[in-house]
Amino acid sequence: MIGFFRRGPALVCDGVPLTDLADAHGTPLYVYSAALIASRYRAIDAAFAAHPHAIHYALKANSTLAIARLLRGLGSNADANSGGEIDVALRAGFIPPQIVFTGVGKTTTELAQAIELGVRTINVESAGELERIDALSRERQTTTKVAIRVNPDIDAKSHPHISTGMKTNKFGIALHEVRELCRRARTLTGIEIVGLHSHVGSQITNLEPLGRAASALARLARELADDGTRIEHLDLGGGLGVSYDGSPVPGVQEYADTLLPAVRGSGLSIILEPGRHIVAPAGVLLTRVIDVKEQPGGRLFVVMDAGMTELIRPMLYDAFHRIEPVLQSSAPVVGAEIVGPLCESSDTLGKNRSLAWPQVDDLFAVMDVGAYGSVMASNYNRRLMPAEVLVENGAAAVIKRRQTIDELLSLES
Ligand SMILES: Cc1ncc(COP(=O)(O)O)c(C=O)c1O
Repeated sequence: MIGFFRRGPALVCDGVPLTDLADAHGTPLYVYSAALIASRYRAIDAAFAAHPHAIHYALKANSTLAIARLLRGLGSNADANSGGEIDVALRAGFIPPQIVFTGVGKTTTELAQAIELGVRTINVESAGELERIDALSRERQTTTKVAIRVNPDIDAKSHPHISTGMKTNKFGIALHEVRELCRRARTLTGIEIVGLHSHVGSQITNLEPLGRAASALARLARELADDGTRIEHLDLGGGLGVSYDGSPVPGVQEYADTLLPAVRGSGLSIILEPGRHIVAPAGVLLTRVIDVKEQPGGRLFVVMDAGMTELIRPMLYDAFHRIEPVLQSSAPVVGAEIVGPLCESSDTLGKNRSLAWPQVDDLFAVMDVGAYGSVMASNYNRRLMPAEVLVENGAAAVIKRRQTIDELLSLES
């Protein structure tokens, strides 16, 4: 077995007891399973084997260097969403042709960085950005390959904060404007349009919108070819969801079976930019109970040593994460609010949960936090960035050490 499972009453990661890791490295602590990341990456790769494809792991989901390096070692390419993520990709060993640069607001400095490096494509978000890339490329006497990010006006039926494919969202270029833009692009010597891109949202568990977006891109590519613009690839973005609460969700085979019919026979290769699906279930956040308090009216609060600074998803998206005792207990079950230590009432990890009556110092694991967990951590309340551990081949290595207060303050006068 790989990943997080029980051995007797104890939760382990790839066989390594989580109690040992918390004792050795303290809490809050992120713990990742290398074996689970590898198996989830390979499953996507295998599901798309019938069609020419490249997986560009979305670094935004988790860009801790060792995780990025692990994915590179598995054969992944990278999707970077900022100059910082391009730097991480390079330091993790990706070469520029393995990097696509996405993002709704790229600064001139970031565009120049990507152009000078010669990344695989810059995924263009607006007519203005296309002109800026052209000018910057001509100044450098080079031609930059770009993909047009299309906004297909498709509702991904995910949480509104992570839906990106509707015309009311800030992302991409409206479908009906792309042909004119491509005509204009053919007159620009600093760019070459090689791809069409769409990413309609994240944590998508109803595949129909993803299938529709792929069909819309394939149709548009045909129309563009008739109009004189030859597209080489379709970048179908990321978005495949995971089950946070144990309810059934589509797997990678259904994902491939939804996307591939749209592109089969098109002569176009595809790029995929999965993030969450690869890493979310491969990480947990270990946290200890600081206090157990019953408020007037009988509401029980379990105050943990991790909160919105380590994991903001519950507060930001009302996201649900299972919260498991690392050692099972036979204490009577109670209803409780599992909250963080910060001075915000919305600082919560789990609302209205049932758990065995906890004691101070009990260790809990917040499950499925490998994606959009540590990358969104903050120093609010002067809290320090948590440590991160990767379990690989039966051994645990610290891949990010806990920040110190001196490091935090070293930026300040
Ligand atoms: C352009 C783009 N590609 C890929 C992703 C990764 O998405 P996910 O983690 O849902 O696979 C995102 C995240 O929202 C994105 O904005």
